[in-house]
This record gives sequence, C-alpha cells and structure tokens, in this order.
Amino acid sequence: MKVAVYPGSFDPTTNGHLDIINRASRLCDKLIVGVLDNKSKVPLFTVEERVAQLKEITKDFANVEIKAFSGLLVDFARANNSNIVIRGLRGVTDFSYEFQMALTNRALDSDLETLFISADTQYLFFSSSQVKEIASFGGDIANMVPEIINEQLFCLIFCSGNRFRFRGLSGK
Ligand code: PNS
Repeated sequence: MKVAVYPGSFDPTTNGHLDIINRASRLCDKLIVGVLDNKSKVPLFTVEERVAQLKEITKDFANVEIKAFSGLLVDFARANNSNIVIRGLRGVTDFSYEFQMALTNRALDSDLETLFISADTQYLFFSSSQVKEIASFGGDIANMVPEIINEQLFCLIFCSGNRFRFRGLSGK
C-alpha cells in the first residue's frame, strides 16, 4: 500500500492546502495529513483545533487521515510506514526553503522522497499568514479558506466572550 504524508502547520488550512490534499490523495492509497504540534511556536489555533478542522474539511475523502505530530518529520513518516512526503509549491519564493527541507529530510532518511505538487493557479498567491492578517483587519477571506475556517477565524477575532483569543500571527 502506497502511503504518503503531507505535513504542515495548517494554521489555518487554506483552500490551497485543500487543493494539494485533493491532488495528493489521487496519487496514493492513503494520505496522512500531519499537523505539526510545535512547542516552540504559539499558533493561532491549537493543534487539537487544527486536527478537528482538517477532519471536518476532509471528511469526504475516503483515503485521507489526519494526525498530529511532533518531533522529526522523518520519524513521523517512518512510524506511518511511508517514504513519501508531499509538499505544495506556490512558486520560486517557496523553492529554496522547500528544497533545503527536502534535502535535510533525505540526509536524515535516504529512503524518503519529497514530491512537490503545485496547487491550482487561483490558490498560488496567498498563505496562512496572509489569511490571518487579512482576517484580523476584517477583510474578506471567504474565497481563500474552507467555510469552517472562515467562521472560526471570524469568531476567534471578533466574537466577544469567545474562549478563543487572537494571539498574534505565527506560521506560514
Ligand atoms: O506548513 P509549514 O509550517 O511550512 O510546515 C513545515 C513542516 C511542518 C513541514 C516542518 O517544519 C517540519 O517538518 N517540522 C518537523 C521538524 C523536522 O522534521 N525538521 C527537520 C526538517 S526541516
């Protein structure tokens, strides 16, 4: 069985991420989306929230699983019997960071291959951090993120008495 992992911060998941999940899920038997639990960063959404969001967003994909991970990506891939890492590439600005990461992961595990997938052109111009910034100023992000993310971001930022708090921008 061909298992691929698609790791990321997903803080929050954008339509670009969803497009990559859709495309990658057609290339393998099982796609595991790995949500990074990074103790050294304070994300906007907790890892539990990001996992729950992704489970809801991908509920119609039969071969997609969502898991949190911490530590090294190579260990996460190995633990899930995968030697394929999927990453999305938006353009040349992503390339040097992604290429360095792919080579570092290969140095840690020579069996691991990184496959780059380009999202559809309509998703190439924005990132999670831009989405957060636009939302924080009340801008319209409806075309950039799945509906559940739009609702939760809006609530996080503007609903008074909500348990969420806007803790600043972090991540990509
Ligand atoms: O969506 P992001 O924030 O660009 O994803 C980055 C991610 C999660 C893929 C990367 O930070 C990662 O793999 N972290 C795990 C730690 C690790 O394995 N580091 C060594 C490879 S650079």
